[in-house]
Amino acid sequence: MTINTINASSDCELVIALMGKGGTGKTFTSLGLIQALRKLDKAMIVADADTNRSLSRYLTAHYLAYGEEELKQLPLMTQAEKDFYEFQQLDSEKTYREFYGTPFNQVKKFSVETPDFFTQKYITNLDEKLALMSVGTSAMRIEELYSTRCSHATLNPLKAWLALSTNGIVVLDCGGGEDSGRFGLPIGANVVVVVVEATPDAIAISEDIRAIDEELGIPVVYVLNKCLNQFPEVEAFEAEHQDTIVGKIPFMPTIYGKNPLEVFEEIEPIFTPILEKILAQKLSTPQQRWQRVLRWQERLQQQRETSKSQPFSFIS
Ligand SMILES: Nc1ncnc2c1ncn2[C@@H]1O[C@H](COP(=O)(O)OP(=O)(O)OP(=O)(O)O)[C@@H](O)[C@H]1O
Ligand SMILES: [Mg+2]
Repeated sequence: MTINTINASSDCELVIALMGKGGTGKTFTSLGLIQALRKLDKAMIVADADTNRSLSRYLTAHYLAYGEEELKQLPLMTQAEKDFYEFQQLDSEKTYREFYGTPFNQVKKFSVETPDFFTQKYITNLDEKLALMSVGTSAMRIEELYSTRCSHATLNPLKAWLALSTNGIVVLDCGGGEDSGRFGLPIGANVVVVVVEATPDAIAISEDIRAIDEELGIPVVYVLNKCLNQFPEVEAFEAEHQDTIVGKIPFMPTIYGKNPLEVFEEIEPIFTPILEKILAQKLSTPQQRWQRVLRWQERLQQQRETSKSQPFSFIS
């Protein structure tokens, strides 16, 4: 599949998630891919799951001339639980655990092109074909601080939305580190692009991320970024993953610290071939993406039952 042929079918979907150690270039790569994907002329939602909000900041500054104050007004997916339950027609007694066990033909799908009422409420249009979904800030929320629930739970609506979104393109910036993988945020993506800075340290973290994604069954490809010095660890990584490295980006001093959308002419030639390689991967169907969610839920359930039957002991 090439950039020009993916748009042949208007009702297909593509969900790309970006992961990687902090500062490796996830937001930069997201923006490069988003701009390259725009050539497909399909509806696209950019989901910013990083609480540093860099992606939201760059996009709203470029498309809507927003500053920090306007950024604070964006609807937040971390506050979407009530609407999510309503959209899925779940009663308030029902838990996410039960929801994640719902078969594909019974679960309600979300729509990118011609957004459903849930999606519509949590996106901000940047232009006719591009919208932003923002997860929220790391600013203290009193209700989270004194809640017995893990704050990751507030990401359940986004996780399910990603797995069940149809009819368009979704690009998700997961934020830094492997944590989002641990609670399965990208489980519904067609492919995870792990952005690896070409240093020994970043390579070590990318292995942790790959291991989690592989356990969850998500296809992974790599972008090697900020390639500058030759390290034996980087060379070994390249040799090992040559089939899944979809791009190598040099360190470019002229773009460092800039909004990638303002220097896009400079980076465009890099991202078109990267996108083509990503699209050449075998992409999972919506059923297969949801199947992964069901499998994960089943495993989780088994795990819970095993730990219930084994009383906790300090002495082994
Ligand atoms: N190939 C490159 N050449 C030069 N500078 C780069 C390159 N890629 C990214 N940068 C710069 O590195 C910094 C970090 O990039 P970016 O914000 O995309 O990383 P990130 O992984 O999203 O970080 P975070 O984990 O903080 O969200 C930015 O200042 C960006 O301009
Ligand atoms: Mg970022």
